[in-house]
Amino acid sequence: MKIIKAKDYEDMSRKAANIISAQVILKPDCVLGLATGSTPIGAYKQLAAWYEKGDVDFAEVSTYNLDEYRGLSHDDPQSYHYFMRENFFDHINIDLNNTHVPDGSNPDAAAACSEYDKIVAAAGYPDLQLLGIGNNGHIGFNEPDDHFSKGTHCVDLTESTIQANSRLFDSIDDVPRQAYTMGTQTIMYARMILVVANGEAKAQAVYDMCYGPVTPACPASILQLHTNCVVVADEAALSLCE
Ligand code: PGA
Repeated sequence: MKIIKAKDYEDMSRKAANIISAQVILKPDCVLGLATGSTPIGAYKQLAAWYEKGDVDFAEVSTYNLDEYRGLSHDDPQSYHYFMRENFFDHINIDLNNTHVPDGSNPDAAAACSEYDKIVAAAGYPDLQLLGIGNNGHIGFNEPDDHFSKGTHCVDLTESTIQANSRLFDSIDDVPRQAYTMGTQTIMYARMILVVANGEAKAQAVYDMCYGPVTPACPASILQLHTNCVVVADEAALSLCE
């Protein structure tokens, strides 16, 4: 694991965007694994600004997102489909047909998940997978458990995740209780992994990811076994690591 310390959120976002942009410049038709949540928004904004300036071109890029809430339609403002358009896709020249998010609107969990596994495998898995990390060490919606997950599957969100994500909903009761998420094994197939983290609330999870035992109790800890994993985190998120 390579750990890159950023001064603050802006600096973290710019450093992460630089790494993603380098990937797109080196391989214009690359496959990007993308993440939602508050943390990557700054990197998406920076990439969109560089696209506007003509520095990076997404015309041939294809993307696969980690997860989606079960039961939300694609145009629901709380869905991750909507989030990706609002925060990234609508601001760059990506072909929307080349963007993929698990189909939360399909109530048949087994079908939605196996369909997603098929298309991610057919794409050859991401060249670069961007990840946030949950306060509880989750990656995607792979929550702490007694085993590491494999392919895309339906999960029950933990109370801590429901609580953390409720800030984006009118009330905690509106937070969906289930999601479809890419599995840990699939995440590990990416050729490069880029984790972004900021703020003191992530300090314990970041410490456990980088230096704790490799255990499904902290799903992100498996990234220690990846041969090309870069963590870009601000000083607050790295405060327990020095
Ligand atoms: P956040 O979420 O970026 O909104 O903190 C990260 C995550 O839960 O993976």
